[in-house]
Amino acid sequence: MPIPPADPGGTCLVTGASSGIGAEIARALARRGYGLVLVARRPDRLQALADELVAGRDVRVEVVPADLAEEEERAEVVRIVERAGLRVDVLVNNAGASTFGPVHESDRAGELALVRTDVEAVVDLCTMVVPGMVARRRGAVLTTASTAAFQPLPHQAAYGAAKAFVLSYSHALRAEVRRFGIPVTALCPGPVATGFAAAAGTTERDLAGFLPRAMWLAAHEVARAGIEGLERDRPVVVPGLLNRLASLAASATPAPVMAAIVELARQPRRGR
Ligand SMILES: NC(=O)c1ccc[n+]([C@@H]2O[C@H](COP(=O)([O-])OP(=O)(O)OC[C@H]3O[C@@H](n4cnc5c(N)ncnc54)[C@H](OP(=O)(O)O)[C@@H]3O)[C@@H](O)[C@H]2O)c1
Repeated sequence: MPIPPADPGGTCLVTGASSGIGAEIARALARRGYGLVLVARRPDRLQALADELVAGRDVRVEVVPADLAEEEERAEVVRIVERAGLRVDVLVNNAGASTFGPVHESDRAGELALVRTDVEAVVDLCTMVVPGMVARRRGAVLTTASTAAFQPLPHQAAYGAAKAFVLSYSHALRAEVRRFGIPVTALCPGPVATGFAAAAGTTERDLAGFLPRAMWLAAHEVARAGIEGLERDRPVVVPGLLNRLASLAASATPAPVMAAIVELARQPRRGR
């Protein structure tokens, strides 16, 4: 089931394109000749990427700054794309953020923003964009989940649960739209050095320092695996052999055991 070929009337809507994995997914799609709509909150970073992507290439790149935690801003993104006369051929739900710390020390607003960005925005964008893909029998959806989707994640409880949600959602969506020729892939990266830890108000060492270096991949490697997985119609892509083995082990281990292991691994680093 191929993804739609690049076409001047079509575009790839990439959320979280201002940084890390999303920026690399946008670069990988531009190299394949696709037009892009870049979405995130920081317009300067989106514009810098857009300038880079159009240089020397015949691709159309739109910059649409938006806070995807906000329902009205999400709706406006879709309206802007429609007003530009574009159809979304590839939807990349990549924007995401985490908090860090135990639930009893968490900030209510931060936790709710996480759920709105990592869960609600994925559901909302699919709900707004997939009907058009089905009507046209043309489209593809890539959603960035995480290896966190395969296990509970103490000190990132809402994040782990959010990624489990989007993995499940992606599987279900895939089963629904297969008959219309629309591939759906969940990209589940292990640790990647991006702006992610800083955005969570912590460090990569605290987030995933207990994981072996061999599990860490570069953002461009993860992006390439995600796009190739979508092109090959894979339901789930876990980049890196060690991450694939760890995900299989995590899925096969009872959730209370995995939760206890992660809690234990994170205790000394939190000085308790
Ligand atoms: N890094 C890892 O170890 C890792 C591992 C597994 C999965 N992931 C997932 O990979 C995806 C990309 O993360 P990354 O590692 O590339 O981190 P990143 O460099 O921090 O990128 C996150 C992107 O999401 C955007 N974003 C966050 N909140 C947003 C909001 N409310 N509205 C609009 N855009 C928002 C950010 O843009 P603005 O700040 O400009 O809005 C940024 O472009 C996320 O879904 C993350 O959960 C990351």
